[in-house]
Amino acid sequence: MTHIDWIDAWSLEEGAARVSKIYAEVFGGDPTGTWSAPGRANLIGEHTDYNGGLVFPFALLHRTYVALTPRTDSIVRIVSGQESMPWEGDLSDAAPGSVSGWAAYVVGVAWALREAGYDVRGFDAAVTSCVPYGAGLSSSAALEASVAVALDSVYGLGLGGTREEPNDDGRKVLVEACIRAEREMAGANTGGMDQSASLRSREGYLLLLDCLDQSISHVPFDLESSGLALLVIDTRAPHQLVDGQYAARRATCEAAARALGVGTLREIADDPAAASVVYDRLAQASTDGAFGDEALDVVSRRVRHVLGDIERVHVVERLLAEGRTAEVGPVLTEAHASLRDDYEVSCDELDLAVDAAIAAGALGGRMVGGGFGGSAIALVKLSEADAIAAAVVEAFAGAGYSAPGFMIAAAGAPAF
Ligand code: GLA
Repeated sequence: MTHIDWIDAWSLEEGAARVSKIYAEVFGGDPTGTWSAPGRANLIGEHTDYNGGLVFPFALLHRTYVALTPRTDSIVRIVSGQESMPWEGDLSDAAPGSVSGWAAYVVGVAWALREAGYDVRGFDAAVTSCVPYGAGLSSSAALEASVAVALDSVYGLGLGGTREEPNDDGRKVLVEACIRAEREMAGANTGGMDQSASLRSREGYLLLLDCLDQSISHVPFDLESSGLALLVIDTRAPHQLVDGQYAARRATCEAAARALGVGTLREIADDPAAASVVYDRLAQASTDGAFGDEALDVVSRRVRHVLGDIERVHVVERLLAEGRTAEVGPVLTEAHASLRDDYEVSCDELDLAVDAAIAAGALGGRMVGGGFGGSAIALVKLSEADAIAAAVVEAFAGAGYSAPGFMIAAAGAPAF
């Protein structure tokens, strides 16, 4: 029998116990409290967030846990169950560029809240996580969001609300702080989907997020009643957002929007008249030198992906509303082709995961997140999930890749 490596999520109790233990070992005694925040997957709508587009993520059951005690001074001391190096420093000295590595995500949230005028002081904290690291499932947003709700709670900022009654307006403020932490302190100019998914999702629901105005709606995510499941395949191919490729895609989209005279490509997606002439207008702009050395063909394909994926979010929303869940599969596969061929953010391992899953009977699949490694999702019949996972394992072994990990995704609770 082929061995399938299922990546288990800790229960809330287990996560809290693990992080409290680390805290006690390092700082002694009990923390003021424990908090946690989920990683995310995204059903459809990739590389659309920073284009003002639509995304359709959900919170995973896999979470990052934090045990934290506030301090009266501005000193921060943090340790992580996943990192060998603790970090200690003074929050008053924190500034973009002053903190590197994993600590930037933690310190960055406290720094961003202070920048926004909130009275946040120092703290002692331990963190640990069952969100696989570097898997394209937003372990960094889970870390930021867990720290955000912890600081909100211990410093009485009144932003997050409770688990039973989350305060969505306040959570938007926490999302902003997490985004600033990631952009300015960690140096990854990402689009905001991940932080919103971690803080603004609802258990059992997909989060339909409009990145133009940050408005949301919660869409029931129930695959089981149709006998389906969403298989997450962590290819374990190294994935790193803090590199040039993500920034280059973003820069191309922004140059295209400028050349088209709009704030974001979303405005083109919403305007059939503009959409019908978009490639002619890009050609003209290219002739006028708007894209420098970048070939018109490349710019056009990047734009085609963004417009296509925004449309695919609408398509999937309609299919789910009409109960035609199985038909989502081919839309995912179409999105994968677009990410692979037009946006060029896939890689061999992701392509193989998707192809092998489909060859073994998946209804469709695609890479998720930023790309260049990380995870793929496949929509499968629940009864076939094991066999499809086994087929992917065998395809990876045949190609000489390390063994992938798997999860059956369910929509978990947001940060609290
Ligand atoms: C990463 C970023 C997100 C988003 C996705 C691609 O996960 O953090 O903001 O851009 O890539 O959809």
